[in-house]
Amino acid sequence: MLDDKDYTAVFDASPDAILVVDSAGVIRGLNRQAVAMFGWSRKDLQGMEIERLVPAASRSRHRRHRRRYGEAPHPRPMGEGLKLEALRKDGKAIPVEISLSPSQLRPDRDHVICAIRDVSAWRRMRRPSGMMVAAAEQERKHLSRELHDEFLQNLVALKIRVKLLADERDDGERERARARIAQDIGDTILGVKQMIRGLRSPKIERQGLIAALATLFSDTREVYGVTIHASVNLDWVADELDPATILALYRIVQEAVTNAATHARVSEAAVKVKSVDGVIIAEIRDEGCGFELPGSGAALDDDHLGLTGMRERAELVGGSLTVQASPGEGTTVRAAVPMVRLDGERS
Ligand SMILES: Nc1ncnc2c1ncn2[C@@H]1O[C@H](COP(=O)(O)OP(=O)(O)O)[C@@H](O)[C@H]1O
Ligand SMILES: [Mg+2]
Repeated sequence: MLDDKDYTAVFDASPDAILVVDSAGVIRGLNRQAVAMFGWSRKDLQGMEIERLVPAASRSRHRRHRRRYGEAPHPRPMGEGLKLEALRKDGKAIPVEISLSPSQLRPDRDHVICAIRDVSAWRRMRRPSGMMVAAAEQERKHLSRELHDEFLQNLVALKIRVKLLADERDDGERERARARIAQDIGDTILGVKQMIRGLRSPKIERQGLIAALATLFSDTREVYGVTIHASVNLDWVADELDPATILALYRIVQEAVTNAATHARVSEAAVKVKSVDGVIIAEIRDEGCGFELPGSGAALDDDHLGLTGMRERAELVGGSLTVQASPGEGTTVRAAVPMVRLDGERS
């Protein structure tokens, strides 16, 4: 059986901050997570009016609601359907979910137990990020530009040249022109292939991550002439990952490999994917020309949508991404994302 000490440990181990508030709105008890979440010390919090943790604009409303709740207390989520925020000591407001339950810890006084959950990460995941929207917009612009400048122009030129070819009387000249046209058609086909490769949905659901990566690497060789030395060690893990994690990993490797193939001026690059202690590490390394990384804190600009997109994808699934690069020293992109099983559990 658990004793009192155990219950205190359970209270402290709760991932939610828990505050015990008396009928006057004064904090009478708290767990360890409350200290971590609000940034106040345990001593500061003890005896503090609960409204200090509510953003100023909502304080009086909170007080009114609290009094009304005190008249007919019952277990319920707070502010259902509302976006609640809690105020930290440093003045930062964090999005939270709160559930309330009344309790008579002492016979003489009613208390309310408030369980407060920080939902910033969850909110971030639900919100299509500005960057993603900008990236999609950018991609559309890129496509229309590419279609116009590259393919439309080429096709128009080819049509004219084929017409001229028919008028050419000199056999040798006609043959040379024909060969040039054939060459240009070949180049245009290659351009279309490269574009399709960037666009095509990887069909990961059908293929699975490992097979999709293998296709990516062989396409990279065919389309860009760059050989990828791959070592993918995920064995059984891959099938159990949740789709968002799989897609993030695939897109990160795809972008980094494409960058190596198109910017690094190399004929080969290395990709390692493995799982270590519940984290999947994907590393893409080339020994190419490298580049100057934009300083940290530099504005996200249109020139680095690929790099920022990779970082965002990693962060959206709870991971992180680092890029090491400097001119002449090659480039290493390293993503670390937590393994999340299909059932949503971190392993
Ligand atoms: N592996 C690499 N080798 C050399 N330069 C790179 C590499 N990856 C990225 N870069 C440089 O960083 C820039 C930004 O990359 P990215 O954000 O992917 O945008 P994009 O690929 O659309 O140019 C590239 O234009 C290139 O100059
Ligand atoms: Mg890129």
